[in-house]
Amino acid sequence: MEFDFETPIDRRGTGAVKWDRNIATHGQAAPGEAFAGDGPPPIPLTIADMELAAPPVVIAAMRARLGHGVFGYTMPTPAYRAAARGWQARRHGWEIEEDWILPFHGVIPALYALIRGLVPAGRKVLLQAPVFPPFFDAVRRNGAEVALDELVLADGRYAMDFDALERHLADPDVAMFVLCNPHNPTGRAWTRAELLRVAELCARHDVIVIADEIHGDLVMPGQRFVPFGAIGHPAAAKAIVANGLSKTMNLAGLGLCNLVVADPALRERVAGLLMASGAFGVNPVSEAGFVAGWREGGPWLDALMRHVDANRAFVRRFLAERLPAARLVEPEATYLLWVDFRAFGLPPEEVSERIMRRARVRLENGTAFGPGGAGFFRVNAACPRAMLVEAWERIAVALGSNR
Ligand SMILES: Cc1ncc(COP(=O)(O)O)c(C=O)c1O
Repeated sequence: MEFDFETPIDRRGTGAVKWDRNIATHGQAAPGEAFAGDGPPPIPLTIADMELAAPPVVIAAMRARLGHGVFGYTMPTPAYRAAARGWQARRHGWEIEEDWILPFHGVIPALYALIRGLVPAGRKVLLQAPVFPPFFDAVRRNGAEVALDELVLADGRYAMDFDALERHLADPDVAMFVLCNPHNPTGRAWTRAELLRVAELCARHDVIVIADEIHGDLVMPGQRFVPFGAIGHPAAAKAIVANGLSKTMNLAGLGLCNLVVADPALRERVAGLLMASGAFGVNPVSEAGFVAGWREGGPWLDALMRHVDANRAFVRRFLAERLPAARLVEPEATYLLWVDFRAFGLPPEEVSERIMRRARVRLENGTAFGPGGAGFFRVNAACPRAMLVEAWERIAVALGSNR
């Protein structure tokens, strides 16, 4: 079946954060501010949602659920648990039990509750920078401190420095490690060997692992995503894994995710913390959409990743031809492109300013992603090709390309 990833969809006026939100995010100017004045319509290639409609099977299931007419308090149905389990087994070879699944209304809200409940005040949560900016807030707003391990970029690919990682984990103040797998923004899908070393080190130093696998389904053709829970190490069974379809099928606004916890004692503790946050049950329309997505959304996802891969190939070619000083870090997963502008020799603020004010394109400035982010910009490639082409044409002009 063919899917339409090219027809533009106007999201303005829907309250879409990327298009309508009138306040700054991650320390950046609000779209309204940034795009004040005359010029072509702005193009935001920022926040991780797609300029694409969700899979037709998901939309149909939600319509059918709407047709039922009653939207009372709802718990996840047995079909929900079975569909989630089946998806992990089929797509990633990860066998989970249905009762390991704890649904919640978002990965970040879950992280807030977990840090508050599992990290004693003043202790540290280890993050791997450059990394998804809301992690920093999640730690600081919940009484903990950020400890930072820096990923290493060598030959165009990010890697963990395991000696440095172990030094951080050995700090008695570090109580939790947030593993981002695949990693936003660097696009790394960590290998089984890498994950085994992470598991060993965290077990040795008694550090709780939160594996944020919300991008785990978004794997580039020919690449592989290994769930942390699937590596066969006892420490992995003690991790708290976050996943779902919010990124996979562009359902982030539906407010639903899963925490998967294999260890019964830890699961009970986590369930208590989620309950203590005051959230209860699931949105019935979201629930129906997720069931359909897990059951029938595979072909759409495969087609999506071919589209994202082709968009990625376009950006790579464009940079080589028009902006040779910029360099794409090739992602193994996610639809996010991490582009290295350091060789321009301009301060990141100047690059950002030109891209925003002259090109009227909005990218995520790498400075918000912590150490190692300055000089990089994150570009969302989950959009129609024409939007990406227009954005890069304008960026090339704004940065004074040789054409
Ligand atoms: C790594 C990562 N975790 C979590 C989230 C947000 O998850 P949620 O919307 O479920 O809070 C994002 C969204 O961009 C993300 O990139």
